[in-house]
Amino acid sequence: MRIAFAASEGVPFSKTGGLADVVGALPKALAASGHEVQVLLPRYRMTKPGRTLPESKSLTLPLASGFRFAAIQDGGEADGVHTYLVDCPDFFDREGLYQTSGQDYPDNALRFAAFSLACLEFLKRSATPPDIIHCHDWQTALVPIYLRNLYTGDGFFEKTSVLFTIHNLGYQGHFPPHILPRIGLHVGLFTVDGLEFYGKVNLLKGGIIFSDFITTVSRKYAEEIQTPEFGCGLQGVLSARSDRLQGIVNGVDYGPWDPSTDKLIAANYSPEDLKGKETCKKALLENMGVAQPALDRPVIGIVSRFARQKGFDLIAEIAEELMAMDLYIGALGTGEPEYEELFRSLAAKYPDKFLVKVAYDNTLAHQIEAGADMFLMPSRYEPCGLNQIYSMKYGTVPVVRATGGLDDTVEPFDGKKGTGFKFSEYAPAALLATIQQAIEVYRQPKAWRQLMHNGMRKDFSWPSSAKQYVKIYQTLHKDKAKAKAAAEAANP
Ligand code: ADP
Ligand code: GLC
Repeated sequence: MRIAFAASEGVPFSKTGGLADVVGALPKALAASGHEVQVLLPRYRMTKPGRTLPESKSLTLPLASGFRFAAIQDGGEADGVHTYLVDCPDFFDREGLYQTSGQDYPDNALRFAAFSLACLEFLKRSATPPDIIHCHDWQTALVPIYLRNLYTGDGFFEKTSVLFTIHNLGYQGHFPPHILPRIGLHVGLFTVDGLEFYGKVNLLKGGIIFSDFITTVSRKYAEEIQTPEFGCGLQGVLSARSDRLQGIVNGVDYGPWDPSTDKLIAANYSPEDLKGKETCKKALLENMGVAQPALDRPVIGIVSRFARQKGFDLIAEIAEELMAMDLYIGALGTGEPEYEELFRSLAAKYPDKFLVKVAYDNTLAHQIEAGADMFLMPSRYEPCGLNQIYSMKYGTVPVVRATGGLDDTVEPFDGKKGTGFKFSEYAPAALLATIQQAIEVYRQPKAWRQLMHNGMRKDFSWPSSAKQYVKIYQTLHKDKAKAKAAAEAANP
């Protein structure tokens, strides 16, 4: 099949979080199973420029605020996947992807409208239409919205279906109603059954309504988002489409995330030979500013966007009890100023034990995965989560809240089987008790080694999840063929 991915970030071109890891890896797994896959991404300042394609690939984008022009750059082919970069410097040649200094760019609706239109216009210039356009999150929700409203009379996309993947329901793309004509949409779409959401335009809602199928990134999260607690106001819209909604847990690409080959860590190691892990632990603690590391103390690692979603307010509430224990916390992250401040203040208060770097630093992220003993994700909600999966591969035991993908991927350790520790209630006492339980097992070397091995032997690589996506693509493809045959029979 011909599959086009439209996304706002993807490694190695751009990244703020796990979406980029998925968009970097899933297409490769699809290409490996014989599909033709192209990936369309914006060309940001952080993206290395590609080769600008000849003039014919320059696109005119009719937005009411005026015509915009985008050039398509060739991002090259790797592992059978061709990447194209939408170059529109006014919108994307900026410091951040979505925001700067914690504030969203005020023209985000226009930016991603331009990107979505550019994707459709670029695809239209190919000789053959895609069978599937696979969109991700609110930034590309306008692709199905445009396709089903502006391109309905366009025979080119007649056989094209849209699969929309929700990576995080917490980000929906809310804009004032007057944005509709500015992004080329009719105000008639501003209804309860359309894009209206509590007096605002909600682009994610449009993505859910106008796509042929919706997935999210774990089985548990697919259930959770149909409830008021996790649905962020869209639970009704999602439930109404539950026959076309499925959870598929993310895979991971072990290429860059394997302790036996990782070039960013102090020493390599494997389940058969764990010696290198102690070298990594020592190097990590020294690197994070501990002059004489006590290697018998457990290190709890954190690598995260600092956002409300991630549950760090729980740590603040148990900081005193935690710091009275014999352990280190090594945290890396960046994001909302409130949480950056929280981590900075904990580091200032407990300088010998609470080690923090407020930054985006891929090398240190790998070093924490390798050097820590445990990995903490007390998320309020977590659509999938990738770090707990990377952690298992690195023999770094996940301590997580049982929500979304964290619940689907971490099995509680029972002394023999299991890969980590989890708690259910979003409460400081529950987190504290779970960390205490983990440390108790840490003090029993044989049991701990068993636990590390269990995690290291798990396989979360992409092929099995990619197969589930292919099944959906095939169903959509068949549905389209059936609909076409029915239409032809009705109008011979
Ligand atoms: P989310 O997408 O919600 O941020 P995930 O666990 O799915 O959470 O993915 C996070 C990804 O981003 C991981 O690859 C992680 O290593 C990376 N990451 C997050 N914060 C940082 C940071 N400060 N520095 C380096 N990498 C980071
Ligand atoms: C989102 C989610 C995260 C998920 C990632 C990739 O950013 O917050 O849980 O792993 O997308 O799907």
